[in-house]
Amino acid sequence: MLCCCYLSASYAFCQDTAAHIAIIPEPVKLVQNTGTFTLPATITIEAPDLPAVTSTVQFLEQRIKNATGYLISHSKQAAAPTIKLSLNKTVDQIIGIEGYLLTSTPTNITIVANQPAGLFYGVQTLLQLLPKEIESNLVMPEVKWQVPCVAITDYPRFGWRGLMFDVSRHFFTKQEVKDFINQMARYKLNLFHWHLTDDEGWRVEIKSLPLLTTKGAMRVTRTGYFGDFSKPLPNEPADYGGFYTQEDIKEVVEYAKARFVNILPEVDVPGHSMAAIVAYPELSCTPGADKYNVRAGEKTNEWHDDGTFTALVDNTLCPANEKVYVFLDKVFTELAPLFPFEYIHVGGDECSKDFWKKSDAIAALMKKENLKTMNEVQSYFEKRIGKIVASKKKKLIGWDEILEGGIADDAAVMSWRGEQAGVQATNMKHEVVMSPTTFTYLDYMQGDEALEPKVYATLRLNKTYEFDPVPAGANAKYIKGGQANIWTEQIANTRHLQYMTWPRSFAIAECVWSPKEKKNWNGFVQKVEQQFKRYDISGVKYSPSMYDPIFTAKGTSGNLQVTLATEIEGLDIYYTFDNSFPDKFYPKYSSTLTWPKDAVMLNVITYRKGEPIGRLISMPLSEMQERAGIKK
Ligand code: ACM
Repeated sequence: MLCCCYLSASYAFCQDTAAHIAIIPEPVKLVQNTGTFTLPATITIEAPDLPAVTSTVQFLEQRIKNATGYLISHSKQAAAPTIKLSLNKTVDQIIGIEGYLLTSTPTNITIVANQPAGLFYGVQTLLQLLPKEIESNLVMPEVKWQVPCVAITDYPRFGWRGLMFDVSRHFFTKQEVKDFINQMARYKLNLFHWHLTDDEGWRVEIKSLPLLTTKGAMRVTRTGYFGDFSKPLPNEPADYGGFYTQEDIKEVVEYAKARFVNILPEVDVPGHSMAAIVAYPELSCTPGADKYNVRAGEKTNEWHDDGTFTALVDNTLCPANEKVYVFLDKVFTELAPLFPFEYIHVGGDECSKDFWKKSDAIAALMKKENLKTMNEVQSYFEKRIGKIVASKKKKLIGWDEILEGGIADDAAVMSWRGEQAGVQATNMKHEVVMSPTTFTYLDYMQGDEALEPKVYATLRLNKTYEFDPVPAGANAKYIKGGQANIWTEQIANTRHLQYMTWPRSFAIAECVWSPKEKKNWNGFVQKVEQQFKRYDISGVKYSPSMYDPIFTAKGTSGNLQVTLATEIEGLDIYYTFDNSFPDKFYPKYSSTLTWPKDAVMLNVITYRKGEPIGRLISMPLSEMQERAGIKK
């Protein structure tokens, strides 16, 4: 019997197969054939003897060796290889630079690509075809190491498939950064955007500007809710932070290269520059900047209801000060050779002009350069920085604020405040990377705030999965791809970083790699669950929020109505109002609940097929009233 199954297209028809084959991101074409391949206890890998392939082979060897304990060797030519990786002599136009063909038969496995990157991605797919225990670092003797017989043709939808990681708000070690890169590469994400500087710490060694890291990399220690932290006390030691030496950076770049990940460094200027100003106060337009501290997470802006803010301190570099351009030249002179990637990100976001408006130097610059608005002042700055970046043989990319007040012809734009700026920039023939808050901000909560560190917005997995890097109205030719952003104000450690990254980055990976027409939410959820089992083995933390209920409260104080829903299909919700903990023998939710008189707590849990699956959520009356907008 031949089962020919294009996974997403006929998902319901071949669900059994889908439970076994659960590749994220979904391949372009997957045909399942009869039978399985079983790994023999002595394995030979044949692969071209090229440095860019050797790292891929070592990666595969190590995974197999650790989990199976089998004997494994590799060579450039083998009589009967178990797994054969080869590069095309004649280029296959369909699969391009990063694509691959993977075939497994009862006798062997072959992966063919045009370039080494394709072999790396083919190996990632092979690992996902193997049983989940392949993720184990201990030998798993009971496992049948079988791979279904398949023929896969696969290549990415976009060349830019990114994750941004903010290491300024909280510092993450070199090893933690490597672990992050390793995990993203497993899902064919290939662009690591490294947010290296911000108000809370300058994280990259610049030898000609040593104070950036001796002073600018450290802040006082605070724990709790970032944003509400107390200011440093007089003489309080700045003992939290760290930075990467240039040797560290080279090591991380090499590590990423072996996984076909490019690194985009970001130096966020002219706003978000408090750490640099603390190191070199003369870079500010504002008198008294020498009294500033590296931000510890204390309140520095007054936010207004319309989303605008008033700056309480001046965290901007002064565009009217020539020393700023000398400073930036030094920074980019040292940074550019460290990162082989063609772009440098120069930030440009959320630059407050409140202090510029009070500056005589800015007024004089505006007069001299005939600048009419504060946005034009920022645009003047962006064009000057663009020249510096170009002089280091790099291309400039910045957050979408760089469009305001006029943008240099060759600047690329990262669209984050929704999609509109990205659409506009493509129509102005600028290259664009889409990373809109609406779909890709992984610092946002992914479930109910009763279970998450509180952030001001929520982005559920199902919404992330709707991300399309080519929004309506955009000129698709100028869209380089998409990425998700992980800001770390509320992410203080690597376990929580993982929790915020996964599973939403599975969704991002599928949105930027797989053909749009293959997207299938229910099928994706089933694959996510298979990945969860792998993460349980490898020890990577993930969020189970998709199993928890969604609360919507409406009504008046005497008539509070609570509606419960689930993000994924097939869950039952059980609840109580009597303070006891519900199980599947309690009332099952079927329609909107009216809050009973005098009840103080709604306890809720989800079950699937009679087994508990969600986390217990205890929702107090006061919280529901607040969400319903009921005044006390
Ligand atoms: C940003 O989120 N401020 C780019």
